[in-house]
This record gives sequence, C-alpha cells and structure tokens, in this order.
Amino acid sequence: MGQAVEFASWVEVDLDAIAGNVAAVRGLLEHGVRLLAVVKADGYGHGLLPVARVAVDQGAEMLGVTHPGDGVALRQAGIAIPVLVFRPLLPGEEDAAVKHGLTLSVGSLPQAERLSAAAGRIGRTAVAHLKIETGMGRTGFTPEALRAALDKLLILPGLQLEGIYTHFAAASGDPDFTRRQYRIFNDMVEELRERGVQIPLRHVCNSAATLLYPEWRLEMVRVGNLLYGQLPAGIKEHTLPDGLRLKDPWSFWTRVVHLQPVRRGDTVGYGRTQRIARDTVLAVLPIGYSDGFGLDVAARPADWVDLLKLLVKTAGSFFGLPLGIHHVTVDTGTAPVLGRIGMELTCVDVGKLPAVSVGTPVRLSGRRTAIKASIPRVYVEEKADQTKIHCRNVLDNGEIR
Ligand SMILES: Cc1ncc(COP(=O)(O)O)c(C=O)c1O
Repeated sequence: MGQAVEFASWVEVDLDAIAGNVAAVRGLLEHGVRLLAVVKADGYGHGLLPVARVAVDQGAEMLGVTHPGDGVALRQAGIAIPVLVFRPLLPGEEDAAVKHGLTLSVGSLPQAERLSAAAGRIGRTAVAHLKIETGMGRTGFTPEALRAALDKLLILPGLQLEGIYTHFAAASGDPDFTRRQYRIFNDMVEELRERGVQIPLRHVCNSAATLLYPEWRLEMVRVGNLLYGQLPAGIKEHTLPDGLRLKDPWSFWTRVVHLQPVRRGDTVGYGRTQRIARDTVLAVLPIGYSDGFGLDVAARPADWVDLLKLLVKTAGSFFGLPLGIHHVTVDTGTAPVLGRIGMELTCVDVGKLPAVSVGTPVRLSGRRTAIKASIPRVYVEEKADQTKIHCRNVLDNGEIR
C-alpha cells in the first residue's frame, strides 16, 4: 500500500519486483542468448535511470531506448553497457551519439553515411545495427533497399555492423504475419551470409515473441513489457512458461482533497454529462487528464468485435450507462468516476464506502507511459534487510534526477 509520503499524487515503484522480473526473464533464456532490456519512454513510465540500474545489476547485456538523448542520459549516469538507439538519428545528432558510444540503428544509406562521417570526425568507430523493415511499416531497410545499398554500405569507414534486427507488428495477434516477417528477415540474413557478410548479433523478439517463438531468440531478445510485470496483449497468465513469475512493480496513488455531498438530480463536472442518481458523497481527487489520468490511446478497432465494443461503450456513456467508466480503489472498496475527468481534478462516488476522509490514499489505474513524469516516482527496495525509499526529483527546469 502507499507508503507514508507527503505527495498529493505519486507513483510507487517496487524496484525489487523489477529486479525479480529481469531475473525471471533472464532465467528463461538459453545459454548464450543476451537480454536487451527496453527502457525507452522513461522505463515505460517507471523511471529511466532506476530501471536501467536494476536491469544492469540483474545481468541485462544491453539497454534499448528510442531517443539518443536517453542514451546520453544513461551514459551521464555512469551506465557503461551497450545502449541501442532504436530510432533513426536526425542529421546533426550523430556526433554526440558516437561520442557517447551509443549503438545506432541504421535503416538507410544516408543514415549510414552520416554516421560514418561522424565516426571520422570523432575518431571513434560507430557501432551500428542494421534495421530491416519486414512489416512494421516504420523504419529500416526493405530487403530491396538493402540490396541496392549494400556495396556502398560495406565500404563505409568507421562503421562496425555489429547487429541486424527487425521489429514485429503483431507478435501475439497475427501468427501468419509474424512468421512472414521472420521469413523476410531470415532470408535477408541468409542472403548477406552468402555474400560473405556475417553480422554477429541477430535479434527479432520482443516480449510476446520471446514467449511464443523461443526458437527465434537467436543471439539476443529485446524485452520491455515483461520486465515491468506486464503481459503483452493477447498473452494469458496461465500460458506463461513455468518459473516465469512476474510481479507488478507499479502502484499509482492520489489523496482525497475534499468531500462534497450531492443530491439526486445534481450534475457533476464540465459539460454536465453526469446526473446524480441518488443522494451521495463525492470525493474530489487532485488528478486529471493533464497528469495522464484517464487517457486512453485511441486505437483504430482491430476487427468487428473491437468496433462493436467501442460503439456499445460510446453509446452507453451517452445514455448514462455505467459502461467503460474508470474506477478507483480505496481500502474499503472501489469507487466509480462521476462526470468527465477534469484537467487536474476528478470526482468519484464514495457514498457507499465507509471511512473515506480528506487525505485518504486512493489507488488509480492508468496507462503507465502516459502518467506525467512530474508525478513523483517513489522507489521502494530492500537493501541490507531495510526497506529503502527514495524519490526521483523533478528540478525546476523539468529535468529529472
Ligand atoms: C524496437 C523495439 N524492440 C523491442 C520492444 C519491446 O517490446 P515489448 O515491450 O513488447 O517487449 C520495443 C517496444 O515496443 C521496441 O520498440
């Protein structure tokens, strides 16, 4: 439960749970398969540096980030293991990336040329992983583009092609498409081999593929979700391999700042979208959508069932039915959100719950990566038989320490 901290809202992160998850995933991998711990997006919202340190302590061989700035932050914090930057660099970002010894993804000839030039300027080899586009539709060489670029690519000075990888678009949802992606990747690797190009580190598996296609773990897997105790969409707890016990390190808290009695027929919040059905008491929470609470990523429905669910939910909320509304949890039970979630305040109905007062901690659910970085992350870990609690500071300039 929420530790005694003075914040109005905070996220508690159990670093021992993350350590256990990293160790459990490590334990799953065959000898010789490396673990790249994905710590992008502020360690999936848990905090870049604390998570990275735990992952390194638990034997992760590489870290993965999207942006080169995150790689630099890891270096500045003293983290020395390889860090793979997933996204293409913007022209001008190469020098800093090479200087900090980051491993760069290369998905086009111009990117490779700029990296080679930077390596020359800095006087240091740029380590690169070739990104192959097999169906994600985002970044990387298509096989044709790689074929066309290969001769020029191979003679670029200062560039070490250490790895080759691709990223699955629907590893847990679309086995045919995933197999097709893998086949395209593997054919490309074979073709390179036949041309005498041996790239030592091949990697394709994210969390879902690591579980579903153990034979594709190759030399390395890139795992994010599992390290944070989250199962990829479509993977059920009972299908996990024996020994893979994951713990959820995350809990998100706020406190009641006010109790407001309301009467049947009153309305709550902006737009007067919610009419109160019976006399009750609202708890006002100092949290809203500007903090990331209640934000759902709008995704295009994947199929007819998805579309139907969305229509029912939308129609239900229009007619005031309790469909798809958020709930929060206190010690004595759950409470539904009433009315629209505001920018920084939200009301929940606690009329049926005993012992709720100003200051009562309330547990929230939320998309972790959407929860604003300035909401304090409070880290809890056992060190030398003591529970150690420390907190990430947000500086005045918005920087996080
Ligand atoms: C390139 C790349 N590899 C691996 C991952 C890890 O995915 P997951 O969190 O599903 O393990 C991500 C995150 O989406 C990614 O962008």
